[in-house]
Amino acid sequence: MSESYRIAVVGAGGKMGMRVSNNLVRTDHTVAYVETSPAGRQRTIDAGRELTDAATAVADADIVVLAVPDLALPAVTAELVPQLRPGAIVLTLDPAAAYAGLLTTREDVVQAVAHPCHPSVFLERTTKEEWADTFGGIAAPQDAIAAVESDDPAARDVVEATVRAIYAPVIDVHWVTVKQLAQLEPTLVETVACMIGALLNEALDEAVHTMGVPEAAARSILYGHTQVALANGLRGDNPFSDACLIAMDYGRESIVKEDWKKIFRDDELDRNLARMLHLDTIER
Ligand SMILES: NC(=O)c1ccc[n+]([C@@H]2O[C@H](COP(=O)([O-])OP(=O)(O)OC[C@H]3O[C@@H](n4cnc5c(N)ncnc54)[C@H](O)[C@@H]3O)[C@@H](O)[C@H]2O)c1
Repeated sequence: MSESYRIAVVGAGGKMGMRVSNNLVRTDHTVAYVETSPAGRQRTIDAGRELTDAATAVADADIVVLAVPDLALPAVTAELVPQLRPGAIVLTLDPAAAYAGLLTTREDVVQAVAHPCHPSVFLERTTKEEWADTFGGIAAPQDAIAAVESDDPAARDVVEATVRAIYAPVIDVHWVTVKQLAQLEPTLVETVACMIGALLNEALDEAVHTMGVPEAAARSILYGHTQVALANGLRGDNPFSDACLIAMDYGRESIVKEDWKKIFRDDELDRNLARMLHLDTIER
């Protein structure tokens, strides 16, 4: 796992491209940075990195990290995958396009996907930098989820080394299938968890701006109870009180649709992904 690889980062000046590149410069890997937009090119140069044209960068790459928007992946893979050397790996950072079958693939090129878990809400953080790093990839350790469509252990090693480098510091890499990764992200963590995060903010807004509760009071009680809700709900740290359980039932009846678990069905996953990828339907 301590081997160094030739890594091409495509979309190096974007949000993820900059994050993964900032980490790759600290490794022994040989990295080529590719970016097409003027703003992204400038960000790459301002960060002290040299740009390489795509054809040169991918020609001898062991692994190509595609940090381009999901909507650009069909065109980018159509252009770049035919140029890869046999045995090379294409790593996307989100499963949607791969699961929807939108990527150009090749028998002798390995398709892989890896998504950061982001630092756990229960992570034991000890430094200011760890507290500040809510996204991960800077100071707070996180896990990553990866899928590799190959039985070759050497390909998995390259993916793991790359994932550990781009999302560093990484504790564990969890291996799943591309479909399972799509069931986790978007369904579990965006459709459910991020939606609930945004809902909490809307509820806070309602308490403050419609009900007229002082904002500091509302924010303080919500932040503390959010921790209790997560610690009790996800880890069973303490039982919810009897009155709280009654209020929770009222909330579930009033807010949550009875058939909400349908979001985990294959056809609903396809509907969700089609919306994300701006498609009418997902064709497999
Ligand atoms: N932003 C996040 O929080 C986040 C988190 C996890 C995974 N992802 C995934 O990471 C990937 C990139 O997302 P992002 O948010 O960083 O996108 P972004 O829009 O911030 O950056 C994409 C970059 O790719 C560049 N680009 C587009 N086409 C290109 C091409 N043909 N060649 C070279 N560069 C090209 C753009 O100029 C841009 O700089 C997506 O698959 C996304 O789902 C994003």
